[in-house]
Amino acid sequence: MPSINTIEFKNERLYLIDQRKLPEELSIFECQNYKDVVFAIKEMIVRGAPAIGVTGAYGLVLAAKEFINLSKEEFFRKIKESAQIIGNSRPTAVNLMWAVKRMEDIIEKNKSKSNEEVYEALLAEANIIEKEDLETNKSIARFGNEIVPKNATILTHCNTGTLATVGYGTALGIIREAHYSGKNIKVIADETRPRLQGAKLTAWELMQEKIPVTLIPDSVAPVLIRDGKIDVIIVGADRIASNGDTANKIGTYMLSQIAKDFNVPFYVAAPLSTIDFDIKCGEQIVIEERDAEEVTHINGVRIAPEGVKVYNPAFDVTPHENITGIITEKGIIKPPYVKNISRLLK
Ligand code: MRU
Repeated sequence: MPSINTIEFKNERLYLIDQRKLPEELSIFECQNYKDVVFAIKEMIVRGAPAIGVTGAYGLVLAAKEFINLSKEEFFRKIKESAQIIGNSRPTAVNLMWAVKRMEDIIEKNKSKSNEEVYEALLAEANIIEKEDLETNKSIARFGNEIVPKNATILTHCNTGTLATVGYGTALGIIREAHYSGKNIKVIADETRPRLQGAKLTAWELMQEKIPVTLIPDSVAPVLIRDGKIDVIIVGADRIASNGDTANKIGTYMLSQIAKDFNVPFYVAAPLSTIDFDIKCGEQIVIEERDAEEVTHINGVRIAPEGVKVYNPAFDVTPHENITGIITEKGIIKPPYVKNISRLLK
């Protein structure tokens, strides 16, 4: 299996694959300070809920390095301010806030220590968050493989692979696991307008590993589902509320609704860090609205009339009633979600 490093921290720099340039160009974006990290997350040089969580954690490592020579008081003030800015760089994927919170807890725990010691503690925590992500995905993949029938055609949306995580992926990790365990699966990848993560990233990742993939315009999916051409749908998540309502890439809700109409199993694959135990339902999830240019232009070329009004939400919420199961590193959560998700807190 070819391996790529979506995120790599070395020599006090953070290196990210520049996902805006794939598949034409595999180039690396270097973050020298936390503002570079904020830029990379906002501009979607790095994207995908788990990947932006890990990136945010390293953003705080870079902030600590940048401010290390300030007085202790100023140092803490500056990294706390950086934590706030990093945590707000994209609003929907809770993994970002979750990772920043873990780093803030480390700052709090080490507040009597020297600036250097705080830096070391933050670096160690970011390394742990990074390592855990890969292990988590392998575990999601093993549980998820149980629901994939032999010879299945699997529909997926957006990119949930190595590029969206530290490695292996969530929904795409399950697809990898099913492929490498010899199940003879086929993948249908939605192109995922407007940013085309399915076309640019998922198709690229799967083709690197010779996993059979067919790319479709998003609007083809309902026809395939109706005609019995899809055995199972597996998608990722950006935030899951306590009742199982799930925010994921725009277009997910439409798929789930059609899957329900035609009795096709619809699974969400995500680490427990994607569950926001503080919110009761999907209505409380903040949905990011992105720039009009993502809709009016493709690869920098205008395709819509100048001045047209645009509405461009990056995510939608799939109601829990449409979800067959949520595949996590601890197993598959089945309805009733309120009860079965709250059990995880115990
Ligand atoms: O806007 P993006 O590309 O960051 O959106 C990504 C998704 O919606 C993914 O499905 C989700 O983050 C899960 S990634 C394992």
